Amino acid sequence: RPVQDARPGPSAISVVAHRGASEDAPEHTLAAYRKAIEDGADALECDVRLTADGHLVCVHDRRVNRTSNGRGAVSALELADLATLDFGSWKADADDHEAPDRQHEDPERTSVLTLERLLELVADADRRVELAIETKHPTRWAGQVEERLVELLGRFGHTDPAKDASVPPPVRVMSFSARSLHRLRAAAPEIPAVYLMQFLTPRYRDGRLPPGVGIAGPGIRILRAHPDYVARAHRAGHQVHVWTVNEAADVELCRDLGVDAVITNRPKQVRNQLGLG
Ligand code: G3P
Ligand code: CA
Repeated sequence: RPVQDARPGPSAISVVAHRGASEDAPEHTLAAYRKAIEDGADALECDVRLTADGHLVCVHDRRVNRTSNGRGAVSALELADLATLDFGSWKADADDHEAPDRQHEDPERTSVLTLERLLELVADADRRVELAIETKHPTRWAGQVEERLVELLGRFGHTDPAKDASVPPPVRVMSFSARSLHRLRAAAPEIPAVYLMQFLTPRYRDGRLPPGVGIAGPGIRILRAHPDYVARAHRAGHQVHVWTVNEAADVELCRDLGVDAVITNRPKQVRNQLGLG
């Protein structure tokens, strides 16, 4: 699809806030995403998982143990269970600040975030802010994540086929699973898909991607080892969105190679380095 394959101009490198401005605020919280928007991020990245009662929530790990004061798999918990947990204080601990008393803490820094709330935040922003949604555990749920995702995106008007095709959709879906992207594209072909890659397998070394996918999502390690991958993907007509680009030298590499988007925990610093701040 032309919208998906069109590359921005050479200077238009997009800065994507990975789990929000997650260096400064607890990842996947409303506070982290508000900060990313304030910092000028072009797009927000989030991981989504399905709760036991069918809600899509923004949580990276299979379990809530690392990023909350609770325990257990997201898929075994209901949204009401997650709503009782503190998803923010671990960050204060990790940053070696005094852990705040939850009672006096801003709920936007501590509450579980639903994808629905994040879509609202983006819809209410006073400028265009894109959303890059990564489906996690897609195999286990055999289509339910994508089904729920398409339904939610439809409610926000992102799957409307009558939309102006010359404006790229503000939402895209990413996955390490080609199968998840295939399901998504089958249900909502207007949503761009990003194929995430941890390693450059022989199958995709020449820049090709799974059918219907228009954007390559290599990890920065791939670019360090195979810098010519970017040119190959571009020759094949694809954009290249690279994760997770936090170090100055890696930002430099991405700029030199002409990647289309960098996904980073530090959107403000990266924008400054790129002269966009
Ligand atoms: O943006 C892609 C990147 O987030 C993939 O890795 O583990 O941070 O979800 P992970
Ligand atoms: Ca992710």
